[in-house]
Amino acid sequence: MTDNRSLEQRGLRESATFDRTTIAAIQRAAETGIYDIRGWGAKRKLPHFDDLLFLGASMSRYPLEGYRERCDTDVVLGGRNAKYPLHLESPVTIAGMSFGALSAGAKEALGRGASEVGTSTTTGDGGMTPEERGQSKHLVYQYLPSRYGMNPDDLRKADAIEVVLGQGAKPGGGGMLLGQKISERVAGMRTLPEGIDQRSACRHPDWTGPDDLAIKINELREITDWEKPIYVKVGASRTYYDVKLAVHSGADVVVVDGMQGGTAATQEVFIEHVGIPTLAAIPQAVQALEELGVHRKGGRDGVQLIVSGGIRNGADVAKAMALGADAVAIGTAALIALGDNDPRYAADYEKLGSAAGYYDDFQDGRDPAGISTQDPELSARFDPVEGGRRLANFLRVTTMEAQTIARACGKAHLQHLEPEDLVAISMEAAAMARVPLAGTGWIPGTGTGF
Ligand SMILES: Cc1cc2nc3c(=O)[nH]c(=O)nc-3n(C[C@H](O)[C@H](O)[C@H](O)COP(=O)(O)O)c2cc1C
Repeated sequence: MTDNRSLEQRGLRESATFDRTTIAAIQRAAETGIYDIRGWGAKRKLPHFDDLLFLGASMSRYPLEGYRERCDTDVVLGGRNAKYPLHLESPVTIAGMSFGALSAGAKEALGRGASEVGTSTTTGDGGMTPEERGQSKHLVYQYLPSRYGMNPDDLRKADAIEVVLGQGAKPGGGGMLLGQKISERVAGMRTLPEGIDQRSACRHPDWTGPDDLAIKINELREITDWEKPIYVKVGASRTYYDVKLAVHSGADVVVVDGMQGGTAATQEVFIEHVGIPTLAAIPQAVQALEELGVHRKGGRDGVQLIVSGGIRNGADVAKAMALGADAVAIGTAALIALGDNDPRYAADYEKLGSAAGYYDDFQDGRDPAGISTQDPELSARFDPVEGGRRLANFLRVTTMEAQTIARACGKAHLQHLEPEDLVAISMEAAAMARVPLAGTGWIPGTGTGF
């Protein structure tokens, strides 16, 4: 006879240590003998922007009127050395995502959406596509350890160069692109065989440390006539030291990507267990820039900080900026805006053993939304013009949300947000973000460094 009582009523208790997800992972490993890889970022609960709140103005501060008083959103990136720094209308930029991981249409749509709101988009592993260049007003060209798709002519076509040392989802690790996504075009751009799994290197082949990187950065400046800002991107781990060394190497802009940051494909164990949360990385980066005397928010001559990893809305943008970022970058949220994980494809996700809102098998190349795939039929489902329109809408909303918060804090520019505008609602977040616990003046750990 079936027992209709709930599991709790039957006295069954799930182990906190061996919960159902853990049991399924052990069973999967035992069954297949291969480790799990997936896309997206860390899924575990971590201290994050949700653990911070803004102190809106009342008596002791003076708020700005939403419809009448300006709150500017622009940002200049890379003015320290470059003849042509990037001047963006919104500080919400699109992070580097590879052609190979994403379809050509998705890359084009990212360019269309970003350009419509006057922000930048970024290439990725696998190089620059003509569609992407054509549709992107401000295009950052990634210079990656793999050198897949790297081409000096494309470097010259870019508006800025991002030297990638690592990603928040996998600091210390390289990327993966499985054979099913290596179409003729992807293979051609990477000069590697079609249909064969590719691993991207975890470190650059021709330099090993900051002194060598300084030489490499000078080389990049020379071949692009000192025109373009040079970014250095690091995955968040020893962020204080990494940012200091990136600046010593000559970076005009430092990009810090926290462990919630998305990826196209990496080992699950890497995504969930390596790196530090975005919230913990920002104050370390800011401290490093301040100690070097180059943290001048909104100033052209400083080194700008771009933060990424789990940014989902205008509140996250405002919080990252209040903690010291000059701009942010988004990956996963941009893909969702394009149509990734859309309930329209619920039945297709079910067929793949997933569900809308859970789909993270970007490595498989069977994305029903036509975004993380190279399959011609699936890619054809995706309309780059419509995708670009949706992304532009999302970027507009995000920027307006950040402005709304900034005005409430009495700020006439997003760059004027500051840590003093924030409190934390958990001890962990207070300690990591270095802002007081709400209702107190207490910042745990202050004075002890890190
Ligand atoms: C599909 C996908 C592909 C990516 N490809 C690259 C890449 O080629 N190079 C790189 O530096 N980062 C890559 N990333 C990481 C992003 O640049 C960025 O650091 C991350 O997505 C930011 O976190 P978020 O996704 O939570 O916004 C990729 C991310 C995704 C989701």
